[in-house]
Amino acid sequence: MAFLARDEIHLLLISEEAVDDELLAHYPALLSSEEMVRHARFRFAEDRRRFLITRAAIRSALSIYFPDVAPAVWQFSSNVHGRPAISAPVLVNVPTFNISHTNGLIVIAIANGGELGVDVESVGRSSSTLEVADRFFSRQEVSALMALSESERRSRFFDLWTLKEAWIKALGMGLAMPLHSFSFDFSESRIAISFACERNDDPTRWQFWQWRLSTEHQVALAFATEPGKKMRVLTRNLVPMRSIELVELVPFRTS
Ligand SMILES: CC(C)(COP(=O)(O)OP(=O)(O)OC[C@H]1O[C@@H](n2cnc3c(N)ncnc32)[C@H](O)[C@@H]1OP(=O)(O)O)[C@@H](O)C(=O)NCCC(=O)NCCS
Repeated sequence: MAFLARDEIHLLLISEEAVDDELLAHYPALLSSEEMVRHARFRFAEDRRRFLITRAAIRSALSIYFPDVAPAVWQFSSNVHGRPAISAPVLVNVPTFNISHTNGLIVIAIANGGELGVDVESVGRSSSTLEVADRFFSRQEVSALMALSESERRSRFFDLWTLKEAWIKALGMGLAMPLHSFSFDFSESRIAISFACERNDDPTRWQFWQWRLSTEHQVALAFATEPGKKMRVLTRNLVPMRSIELVELVPFRTS
């Protein structure tokens, strides 16, 4: 059993490589019939495997915090933008969670309420960073990118992308929130967010963290609660239905 304090966010890292075929064979029994239908719809074996591990991961993670609820018992529903949340069983303190996945890695963030979003990206893959930035980022973000050298630009692009994804996921809106309607700025060597004037939000209630887990994977976490409440993040490696262990990871940038 793990304890989730009110001032903690737990970040669980699930390496796809750590799941062997014998363990994977136990996961389908945890899924709901609706999840099994989704599982069967994936065309590629790699996507089916990731989906299966993700479902086992969120179910086994929640049962670590609520040991009276077996992993297969959790039921989920999604909001209109696709964000999943726990729908059953009914709990006194319902945790908030958010999931992100990319090649080789699944990340789950869990907290005791609050607005929570996480994003992991594979930074090694090729992409035309300026084109994407020009299309999706705010004017301030694009100007800051243009002022950098070619190599700095690539890493700044992923810094911004992961943060922007984590924030829209914390709102639960996904791409229904235009990505150019808010900006991240690192000029004070900390992460600061600002909003287009039509958004009535207080930037100081938001906290952000960023980690480079390896040369391949980068993670951003966004969280909002009442202003002034400082959260701490504990990171753990999880192998669904097998093991969970604390791992010390220092963020390279925070708010
Ligand atoms: C769906 C979206 C919220 C995240 O997509 P993504 O980055 O491709 O995928 P991630 O792996 O980070 O997140 C997917 C998970 O987020 C969760 N999720 C889905 N909709 C969500 C929403 N509206 N809000 C929060 N979380 C959501 C789900 O748990 C989903 O995983 P699951 O289906 O296995 O349960 C959305 O932002 C999107 O489609 N982004 C596309 C990326 C893009 O074009 N970015 C432009 C450059 S910045």
